[in-house]
Amino acid sequence: MATVTPAMAENAKIDATKTDPDTDLNWKEGEITVWTKADAFTSDETGMSDYGSEMYSAACGACHSAPAPDHFLANHWMGIIKDMKGNTALSKEEVRFLQNYLQTHAKDMP
Ligand code: HEC
Repeated sequence: MATVTPAMAENAKIDATKTDPDTDLNWKEGEITVWTKADAFTSDETGMSDYGSEMYSAACGACHSAPAPDHFLANHWMGIIKDMKGNTALSKEEVRFLQNYLQTHAKDMP
């Protein structure tokens, strides 16, 4: 998981733009070349997913039961996390991880 900075986005090679019918947001498909250390990656998807699931129920299940990740569309999770992150003690990085976990498990994800 990585975050694209505005400077990186400006230098991206854009291949196609699509408008999401649910939100009217424009999504661009493109390419970015990045150099990083290989040992900064994990191929343990199950471990990542279990970690996300635990973080989710711990941080979001305290006041109300946490809705199933596939209850909302990926785009809806962005707004929900924005509204709810202030209720949690999660760091900025943890919020980013949690949002990624919820979006990749959203209703409209394969
Ligand atoms: C400190 C208590 C508290 C925590 C922790 C909390 N929430 Fe909430 N949440 C609320 C309250 C109160 C409401 C209802 C009022 C509102 O919408 O603000 C709510 C409403 C919601 C709703 C329904 C309304 C909407 O925005 O669609 C969702 C979904 C939700 N929370 C998700 C989350 C997620 C995801 C987290 C973790 C990041 C979280 N909540 C953490 C208190 C909390």
